[in-house]
Amino acid sequence: MADPAKVERTQVGIVGAGPAGLILAHLLHLEGIESVVLEVRTRQYIEERVRAGVLEQGTVDLLAEMGVGDRLKREGLVHHGVEFRFNGQGHRIDFQSLVGRSITVYAQQEVVKDLVAARLASGGPIVFEAKDVSVHDLTAKSPKIRYQKDGVEHELICDFIAGCDGFHGVCRPSIPEKSLTIYERVYPFAWLGILAQAPPSSEELIYANHKLGFALLSMRSPEISRLYIQCDPEEDLTHWSDARIWEQLHLRFATRDGKWSLTEGPVIQKSIAEMRSFVTDPMQYGRLFLAGDAAHIVPPTGAKGLNLAATDARVLARAITDFYASGSTDILDRYSEICLRRCWKVQHFSWWMTSMLHRIPGESAFDRQRQLAELDYVTSSRAASTALAEHYTGLPFTI
Ligand code: APR
Ligand code: PHB
Repeated sequence: MADPAKVERTQVGIVGAGPAGLILAHLLHLEGIESVVLEVRTRQYIEERVRAGVLEQGTVDLLAEMGVGDRLKREGLVHHGVEFRFNGQGHRIDFQSLVGRSITVYAQQEVVKDLVAARLASGGPIVFEAKDVSVHDLTAKSPKIRYQKDGVEHELICDFIAGCDGFHGVCRPSIPEKSLTIYERVYPFAWLGILAQAPPSSEELIYANHKLGFALLSMRSPEISRLYIQCDPEEDLTHWSDARIWEQLHLRFATRDGKWSLTEGPVIQKSIAEMRSFVTDPMQYGRLFLAGDAAHIVPPTGAKGLNLAATDARVLARAITDFYASGSTDILDRYSEICLRRCWKVQHFSWWMTSMLHRIPGESAFDRQRQLAELDYVTSSRAASTALAEHYTGLPFTI
């Protein structure tokens, strides 16, 4: 007969140690609320996973208020503007003069490292390599999480479960299908991304719309460049030699005056990411609350994924804190509505940036001219640039 499960209790069971789960855990800890974080991967894996790297001003402020902003403040690269390049010319959008805010370039895995360190320093549990995680009794007063660790079965009895387990996690699929509406759009192109040991060729990010396809210049540090090119989603990475990637990058970033140049360096990482917009409505079922990629996905243009995960975690932490402080379920009841209101605006922005910057397979000559006119308008009209800057640096946080 199998050994009986080891039974434990916590206030909030958190599935997933990505930005959503870790921010939530730390915000709850600061309010004296206990949680257990369950993560299927190893600590090393989540601390090395390469993802995007742009933090909105509000995300930077949140991490600083939580006491996890010291290294970010020292090492993060503050950018006051961004460049759009098309028809062989660059056009800068100056965030600072338009909206008085900026963004910080700091890799997501560095945010994860800082949050894991804070969690461990606070004595809060993170169970790495938790196997066969499953969630139960979601509409009951005490929902449960079952998992295995080192061959031992565990049952965690909770007041609330936070599903922060990303797009491929187990929490969203545990909600009855008929209780959810899913909105989805898959794009007919992908991003091939590289990390290169090369000083960034520009101090600020460059989003390029070129007839060969989109390209993005970003960075991780003064020594490391992060570069992306649009490719076919079915593309085989083995067909992309370093030389072919650099050739495409040179062509797509080239300026008409021939004065701009791209510095090459050894490629240290290479991967292809699909592009998708995805929304789950509602983001709650009984006492299970979805946050971050478990509930929604945005295409990477504009780098909103982590920022949206952070605001979900912030709303959920407030909702749970209010509940324990006063018994009020006001914010808990409105959790989905509050998060989805922001999510749809960010969905629109990410879709818009994506549509404006990529070559759309099968597009007509008319579509192409319309796209270039839109870029011209966005970069030359103060009203349009202001809207872009407001979205890019992050919409205000509201509950
Ligand atoms: N059990 C436990 N943990 C799981 C399970 C599972 N069954 N399935 C997935 N996980 C873990 C993943 O290993 C990962 O560490 O959940 C975590 C989810 O983290 P992220 O995917 O980083 O998602 P999230 O925290 O919502 O962060 C939002 O936006 O667009 C993105 O790149 C961006 O990942 C970033 C994010
Ligand atoms: C990144 O640095 O990885 C990055 C930057 C901007 C984006 C997407 C990704 O829009």
